[in-house]
Amino acid sequence: MSTGTIISGVLAPHPPHLVYAENAPQNEPKAECGWETLRWGYERCRKNVLAKKPDVFIVHSPHWKTVVGHHVLGIPRCDGLSVDPIFPNLFRYKYGFDVDLELAECLYDGLKAAGILTKMMRNPGFRVDYGTIASCHLINPEWNIPIVGISSNASHYYFSNEVGDEEMIALGEATRNAVEKSGRRACLLASCSLSHRHFTVESAIPEDMSQEHIYHHGQYLWDMRVLGLMREGKCAQLMAEMPDFVEQANSETKEGCLTWLMSALGVPDYPAEVHGYGSVIGTGNAVVEWDPENAKATA
Ligand SMILES: [Fe+2]
Repeated sequence: MSTGTIISGVLAPHPPHLVYAENAPQNEPKAECGWETLRWGYERCRKNVLAKKPDVFIVHSPHWKTVVGHHVLGIPRCDGLSVDPIFPNLFRYKYGFDVDLELAECLYDGLKAAGILTKMMRNPGFRVDYGTIASCHLINPEWNIPIVGISSNASHYYFSNEVGDEEMIALGEATRNAVEKSGRRACLLASCSLSHRHFTVESAIPEDMSQEHIYHHGQYLWDMRVLGLMREGKCAQLMAEMPDFVEQANSETKEGCLTWLMSALGVPDYPAEVHGYGSVIGTGNAVVEWDPENAKATA
């Protein structure tokens, strides 16, 4: 088997509002429009990623929370209805997709061998979280490429941001090793927002964009700082500043997704492409793509 590669990494935020505004056929509620800068950013990113013909998407989601160790989706097929617990008015999504079980097992074995507490999720009735579904839908609405799903371990919460990030760095390295071993061309999705303070009251029309803006200027400044580092290829610095970003911007990167992605990509020192930035109920969200193959070719 040839050596597998991570062909791209994407910061792929999962606000259910974006799937709602897309009027995805799988989603019951219907919208007039909304959050176009992000949705059109996803469109551009999707075009690039799918053109590279990935064999699999590996997604790390904040809304599959596990308290003891990491869990890996370990059933061959997932079918069901996902309802967002906060926004059931926007997201009631009928999903159905295949899991790349061989790669999932390979990741599980690698994590175990590295001494990292991990479990395969083998419950056939498991309900997949909306973070996994929204990000995967937005990057590939056809769902014709299998998924590997990874839970969000709570080490940032139970220990500290620094300890949590160390855990995610180990998870990222194990993910890269598993991809290489499997021979797959993998695209990695970090399913999270940036700054994450949000409004507590929804506007009467959720897609009324006259009501949408970042929660406050300090959050915006942090988001621009982080996106600036990504665009300049300064991801080592970004990782060094991550604990402060989490603390001061209440960032959803506290769930570990972005650190996992940075680590799996070998901490990029080449520029990322920011396809779109926008707020959703006040939180900062960006669709950002790292293309390691292109970076190598142009080096
Ligand atoms: Fe979220």
